[in-house]
Amino acid sequence: MMNHENTRALMQTHQSIRKFKDTAVSEEIVTDLVESARWAPTSSHVQSYTIIRVNDQEKRDAISEVAANQKYVRESPLFLVFVADWHKHVINSEKFNADIQLEETENVLVGAVDVALAAENVLLAARSYGLGGVMIGGVRNDLHRVAEVLELPKHTFPVMGLCLGYPDQDPGQKPRFPKPMILHEDRYEASRYQEGLDDYERETSDYYERRTKGSKTDGWGANMVNLLGKPRRQQVTKFLKDQGFTMK
Ligand SMILES: Cc1cc2nc3c(=O)[nH]c(=O)nc-3n(C[C@H](O)[C@H](O)[C@H](O)COP(=O)(O)O)c2cc1C
Repeated sequence: MMNHENTRALMQTHQSIRKFKDTAVSEEIVTDLVESARWAPTSSHVQSYTIIRVNDQEKRDAISEVAANQKYVRESPLFLVFVADWHKHVINSEKFNADIQLEETENVLVGAVDVALAAENVLLAARSYGLGGVMIGGVRNDLHRVAEVLELPKHTFPVMGLCLGYPDQDPGQKPRFPKPMILHEDRYEASRYQEGLDDYERETSDYYERRTKGSKTDGWGANMVNLLGKPRRQQVTKFLKDQGFTMK
């Protein structure tokens, strides 16, 4: 049953797809994507995630607006929002007439990890059907608004969206860090990054130059200091607290 070549090819040919054909994704495929999410590993079996498929165009438009008007959020044949979800544990605890602790930072991490594992399973399963997609962290630009649109209860938070459809582009793979920059042996070796980052800067600068026909020449490092030099999504802490995660 296991086909090593196909499985590794699926993982190692990843590229985000942001332009889709008009073709709809069949219900059979959608059901199978959810089946793949169901079988993701989950911390302590908590299954602390819920997927919301957004069909309603007005809701799509509202979420796209939150996500800096990313067009594919409005238009992709399938759009899923992955929500970290402890609300079902609240309902469960009421059945058992038990008190549960949900405020901890740990639950925020566990919820986000459970979401990520399920979402990547969905993306890989989708790609096995010839679909492509892109994850959408832009939903976190305004979590209160996304929660309002999707009627999310307390003890939940949206982590990411996922646009899926049949690819109408082939942008090419973005270079990743080479093996020595992601696998260390027995201890963390910071020195590897001195030269490694210089080489990677040249590689990614060339990549962007080719991909944008010369209009962009900044490499990964320059992009990162630009990204991280500005405050980002500062309402996240307030939103999480409002949702019952005091992060004690
Ligand atoms: C959690 C998460 C959120 C992301 N959010 C967005 C997004 O809002 N918009 C977008 O165009 N790409 C988004 N991406 C895609 C990344 O930009 C992309 O994976 C990265 O640049 C590497 O490119 P590649 O996926 O084509 O290899 C997101 C990826 C992840 C994992």
